Amino acid sequence: MAGQRVFSGVQPTGKIHLGNYLGAISPWVAAQVEHEAIFCIADLHALTIPEAVRATYLRAKVRETAAVLLACGIDPARAILFVQSRVGAHAELAWLLSCVTPVGWLERMIQFKTRSAALESVGTGLLAYPVLQAADILLYRADLVPVGEDQRQHIELTRNVARRFHARFGEVFTLPEAMLRPSGARIMGLDDPSAKMSKSLGETRKGHAIGLVDPPDVIRHAITHAVTDSGREVRREQASPGVTNLLTIYELLSGRSREAVQAAFVGKGYTVLKRAVADLVVTTLEPIRQRYLDLSAQPEALDAIVVESSERARLLAAPTLDRVKQLMGLHERSRVPFPLSDSKEG
Ligand code: TYM
Repeated sequence: MAGQRVFSGVQPTGKIHLGNYLGAISPWVAAQVEHEAIFCIADLHALTIPEAVRATYLRAKVRETAAVLLACGIDPARAILFVQSRVGAHAELAWLLSCVTPVGWLERMIQFKTRSAALESVGTGLLAYPVLQAADILLYRADLVPVGEDQRQHIELTRNVARRFHARFGEVFTLPEAMLRPSGARIMGLDDPSAKMSKSLGETRKGHAIGLVDPPDVIRHAITHAVTDSGREVRREQASPGVTNLLTIYELLSGRSREAVQAAFVGKGYTVLKRAVADLVVTTLEPIRQRYLDLSAQPEALDAIVVESSERARLLAAPTLDRVKQLMGLHERSRVPFPLSDSKEG
């Protein structure tokens, strides 16, 4: 539907990979053409991994993430690409929403359960992570949130938090819909196709992920060594997770139907499949890597884009936050008319 507002985000941590691209970034690039699009580099969310994030690392990663997203085709003339910590309303709304969010809802989040299980001491921020994500989305009254499968539960929680706020204080938010690709919303790790491709493992485990700006030889090596199964050739039935993952990558990057891809490879050896996938991945990612290298050489230009975008995001977020504060009986910064006469009607 034209004229809807799209919002999504990415954490500036680890190695941005092909799963991020197929599940999220490439749908974002398509969405910015049809819709009003806002994309967030979620550096406040990154702080929930304190042991992985240091000041110099985070600063460099925010810039790197901006460069990767621009290289992938996010166009600052069409979309807003901003840095979360530059827009104070996110942290502020997150606090206000945390006051209407039951702890039980947060403890049930799969991502929280997985991440906290591995920690000796769990930070409050990790538990409250989805409340900040809800604030990100609700501030902009977004209609659609293009994400991978792992974020579906957070979008459902966002809707529940908004409903609860409305029941208690009155209507202000738009209830967002998660926008998931039918295929590609969950790309699996090459070295272990039973687990999703992950940014943190991509940084530490060789052969796990395909980085969007990895050099061609590294990509080819990872795909050649991808785990398949004990068979030798692609069969019509019983495709194992590893083979299915390679076929999905091929399907999405070639733009061909699953049936056509399946038909093209049935009876062919895994080596043939891997070579074809590697060729296609390298052909797709090489121009992105070149643009990324060009952009990385212009840090001032990169900073200027996110500074200007963050200013635009601030203007869009302000009336929602003001209205929320008004409804809750808090001091409002300024009386910005709500709803804004922004371009939501398209
Ligand atoms: P993050 O940074 O982990 O991932 C960014 C996007 O990539 C998707 N994704 C995948 N898609 C397919 N296959 C995979 N293996 C795969 N791995 C990751 C994610 O689903 C996501 O869409 N909490 C978010 C960032 C965020 C956000 C938001 C998202 C902050 N605020 C508001 C939406 C709306 C996150 O950590 O994504």
